[in-house]
Amino acid sequence: MPRVDVVVYNIGELVTFAGGPLGRVSLDRVYVLRDAGVAIRDGVFVAVGRSGDVRFRFDGFMVDAGGFMASPGLVDPHTHLVFAGSREDEFELKLSGVSYSEILARGGGIYRTVRATRASSLEELLSRALRVLSLMLDHGTTVVEVKSGYALDLEGEVRMLEVARRLGEVSPALVIPTLLAHVPPLEYKGRVSDYARWFAETLVPEVSRRGLAVYVDVFCDRGAFDAAESRLILEAGLKHGLRARMHADQLSYIGCSRLAGELELDSLDHLERMPGENARVLAERGVTATLLPTSIMAMMDPARPPVARLREAGATIAIGSDYNPNNMTPLQQTAMDIAPYILQLTPLEALAAATINAAKSLNIHDRVGAVKEGYRADLVVWDMENYKWIGYTWGYNKTLVVVAGGRIVKKKDLR
Ligand code: NIG
Ligand code: FE
Repeated sequence: MPRVDVVVYNIGELVTFAGGPLGRVSLDRVYVLRDAGVAIRDGVFVAVGRSGDVRFRFDGFMVDAGGFMASPGLVDPHTHLVFAGSREDEFELKLSGVSYSEILARGGGIYRTVRATRASSLEELLSRALRVLSLMLDHGTTVVEVKSGYALDLEGEVRMLEVARRLGEVSPALVIPTLLAHVPPLEYKGRVSDYARWFAETLVPEVSRRGLAVYVDVFCDRGAFDAAESRLILEAGLKHGLRARMHADQLSYIGCSRLAGELELDSLDHLERMPGENARVLAERGVTATLLPTSIMAMMDPARPPVARLREAGATIAIGSDYNPNNMTPLQQTAMDIAPYILQLTPLEALAAATINAAKSLNIHDRVGAVKEGYRADLVVWDMENYKWIGYTWGYNKTLVVVAGGRIVKKKDLR
């Protein structure tokens, strides 16, 4: 009998997403298998099929899924996992009616985290991030994008990206590092475009030369970078071999999402204030809309991305946790479960958004985000009868088994 590492069998319902990323989510493209099993060798799926076939065809460590539902591991395409400190007093301020932008303009918010992060060593940043990453894994996140952006200077941004690299080395999760132009340092007040130029001409080439990032990202918004400065930074990234994504239209609309029509972007994130008519450009250019439901809650702001227009246009919708000191839940599982409430996604759309579509936003959907032969073996068995329980049940950890890159990182006793 062929030898494999792991076999998971007796999966009541397996949502594979083997048909690829979903624009309009319809059941006929979703590839749901009943009574399914998978075999895993060297970190990838080598067989996906009927439970009995897989179970008796291969020899390996056997995991009984107990008839529960399973899906690809969750892909979290937007996190600020590396930082120091916390901002719980700002949580109270926001509740008393002070806006996120006001807090930032007063030198708090991101600036406060910058002060704490600059004062931290690589080891301190790493041990905190590792603790959070293990929480993420336990809740089903097997792939995580990790941004820099809380140091703003060369030494500190490089340190943050070094932390991201170490995370990927020591954890079974796949880590995708992103160089983020977050805000201009306070020292550059009145000279934001000088900082944008320094970022584009010095920091981007250095990070690219050291192979520290896959993506370049910019916080394009009032109080951060305008569309012209963002373009300069993103173009520099593209020129130096990075791929590009962007925080856009979160606090205000200053034309950021329009850049989707002009630059080679994989993802536009946030979009709470994107005009509905821009949805078509995203669909046409294959730019994923990465929406961040827990972040919307943390902003305490009624604005919502134009989900119906994105759906109508056939754009790919992903979701992410946007874990950061303003939004302290690191769980993509929670983002997925509240997406029906905050964004009116269906349970199936929410699952696609948190797996295969999130992989598309990171341009890894040819090998990650689906349960398919040859794909990275990321799998979650859920304490759910079927995918319609997504959102229907929420607020507790529903993972029973988590496999990341072929390694079993969690296995509850299912008896
Ligand atoms: O994605 N909007 C900008 N950046 C983060 C928040 C970062 C922070 O407040 O520390 C976000 O929501
Ligand atoms: Fe963010």
